[in-house]
Amino acid sequence: MRWKKLAPVVLSLCCVTASAQEAREREVYITLGSEALDSLRTSFRASGETVPTLVREANGVSVLKLREGQLGDVSRLMHDQYNRCAGFMTHETQEAALAALEPAQPSLTQTLVSYTLDNAAVVNTLFSGLQEASLRSTITSLSSYTNRYYNGSTSAVQASNWLRDTWAAYAANANRDDVTVALYTHSSWSQPSVIATITGTVTPNEVVVIGGHLDSININVGSSSRPTATAPGADDDASGVATLSEVFRVAMAKGYKPARTVKFMAYAAEEVGLLGSQAIAQAHKASPSTLGTVVGVLQLDMTNYRGSTVEVTLVTDNTNAAQNAFLGNLIDTYTGYTRSNITCGYGCSDHASWNAQGYPASIPFEALMNQDNPYIHTANDTLANSTGGNATNALKFARIAAAYLAELGKGTIPGLPTDTTDPTVSLSSPASGATVTGTVSIAATATDNVGVSKVEFLVDGALKGTSFASPYSFAWDSRTVANGSHTVAAKASDSAGNSATTTARTVTVSNVSTSGTYDSTLKTVRCSAVAATCDSGTAFTGRGTRGPELSYPNTLRGTCADGSGGTFHSDESMDALKVSTVDGTPFAPGKQVKVEATVWAYANPASDRLELFYTANATATTPVWTQIGTSLTPTAAGAVTLSATYTLPSGTNQAVRAQFRYGSSSTTSPCVSNEYNDRDDLVFAVGQ
Ligand code: BES
Ligand code: ZN
Repeated sequence: MRWKKLAPVVLSLCCVTASAQEAREREVYITLGSEALDSLRTSFRASGETVPTLVREANGVSVLKLREGQLGDVSRLMHDQYNRCAGFMTHETQEAALAALEPAQPSLTQTLVSYTLDNAAVVNTLFSGLQEASLRSTITSLSSYTNRYYNGSTSAVQASNWLRDTWAAYAANANRDDVTVALYTHSSWSQPSVIATITGTVTPNEVVVIGGHLDSININVGSSSRPTATAPGADDDASGVATLSEVFRVAMAKGYKPARTVKFMAYAAEEVGLLGSQAIAQAHKASPSTLGTVVGVLQLDMTNYRGSTVEVTLVTDNTNAAQNAFLGNLIDTYTGYTRSNITCGYGCSDHASWNAQGYPASIPFEALMNQDNPYIHTANDTLANSTGGNATNALKFARIAAAYLAELGKGTIPGLPTDTTDPTVSLSSPASGATVTGTVSIAATATDNVGVSKVEFLVDGALKGTSFASPYSFAWDSRTVANGSHTVAAKASDSAGNSATTTARTVTVSNVSTSGTYDSTLKTVRCSAVAATCDSGTAFTGRGTRGPELSYPNTLRGTCADGSGGTFHSDESMDALKVSTVDGTPFAPGKQVKVEATVWAYANPASDRLELFYTANATATTPVWTQIGTSLTPTAAGAVTLSATYTLPSGTNQAVRAQFRYGSSSTTSPCVSNEYNDRDDLVFAVGQ
């Protein structure tokens, strides 16, 4: 987690150095964790090389200046000593390096679009075209270019050309003039990226990106051998590119026309620091008017190895929380694959390049961290060493990517039966003219020729709740409206946007008065009609002679007098007490109730305690108190509400007691005397 402090990749090298020809006297800057500084300097000194200059150190990260030719040594050292990649980042300018000292680019939380799941017909049609054999064939073809190193590798360029041609053929077979397929060349290295674009029919300026990386790497050889070493990268990342390639193939084959522009991207130079995606993301940031505004990015990197029991993991760092939530819902709704969250701890793939430019990015991954494919970055990352030697695992990710495409890209597949039929909907409860109290279930039945996507529940015309699956219902707390006449209705919608609403049904809300009044026999506040709530109101505010507390001590039959020390609302007082059923229905034996006590805590709240008690028989000459839970401590000075729940026993008149006192030890006694202590009892009727 050392690297969390680093800004996202600006230009970084993983276990790699620039080729010997480029590595002359140019000076570059690296950022690395300061704990690695000593061993790095020692090792440079021992080998007789110039020791890199320390430019600045902050927050545990050091900026060093060195010759580009020394990068390979740093890379080797980091790999040997820390046994992993991504150990340092390279920057071309001192400004860029210093910028990397700033805190890490946080995962983004902003939402640029509304995330809805209402394009099921397109999702399911795309699903019907996805083929394991086709995915397998693409992985086989790509990994047959056994070297796809970003620079100086002929076969890496051939792999890009092959993919461009393959995608161009998909588009040509579908006769699509709204689709372009092109190489995206990079000036600093030889391998091009490849981009297929389907122009959106409704909002072409909004862009959805689905990407993976074309390049591969063998980290077991020295830098000069990397452009020729065997690095089939079947899982990392022929699998990801094949996954998005299959989705593009099916989108073409089915005639899918997205509402937003969709760009399928196979990036060059990921393995050496996310360079290809960084260039493309920066270009989009620089020219939104020509390249469009990116509203969502899905990265596919390693999809064909089943490393864990859980089928899909979602990376939560350097990604967008809102889009991740959408992706999770989409996976649950359309695939049912088991899923969990993971973190990389650093910008581990191209999603981080987009996240760094402020775009919402997500990455569904093949395994829990450290259970992923052990063969990556070696000559053994082959299809045979992927799960089952086939592409069934990648097929799952193709379904996820297809659902993402249809639900974020929206749009249609021409020829799909268009649904113009409204759903039917009717209210099953409450009955017309019913009198309701507390929490009441509003339920509806709904049907549709294609499928009901949701039922919304309206009270007095305003949306109060939504139900996505049958049986459609909503628990409405009628205590949120005034007593009297109100209307309820239900509105059903289908995924094509057709909807129907029931006629409004009138019900009478009749929640009994919830404030108690003083009872001169019991000598405290009492709610004598059975209700779902009983509230002391302001009757208990203050303590005895130290405040406005009316009719103190407000304890059953006047027992347990209040303390008389201190001053009102500086020293302790038990100010208000309320009891209510959790389910909103009237008090009855066996019901869960919540007791809320609002107290005035002393300046040092840790020196105060609250105890809550109940009695099943408030009218007994000597009520028996049972403690609810244990002593509670106020969390702040001044007015604080503390609460606990218990189950009502039988008894027609019950009571709760709140004892607020000065003292920091626990007690089970319902009447501890002290000059600052205050007890108040609230009596309430319980139906039988
Ligand atoms: N596919 C890997 C990332 C990966 C590997 C994620 C294992 C999770 C588990 C990717 O191609 C890669 O190797 N990335 C580099 C990133 C660096 C060059 C910025 C890495 O992780 O070292
Ligand atoms: Zn990868």
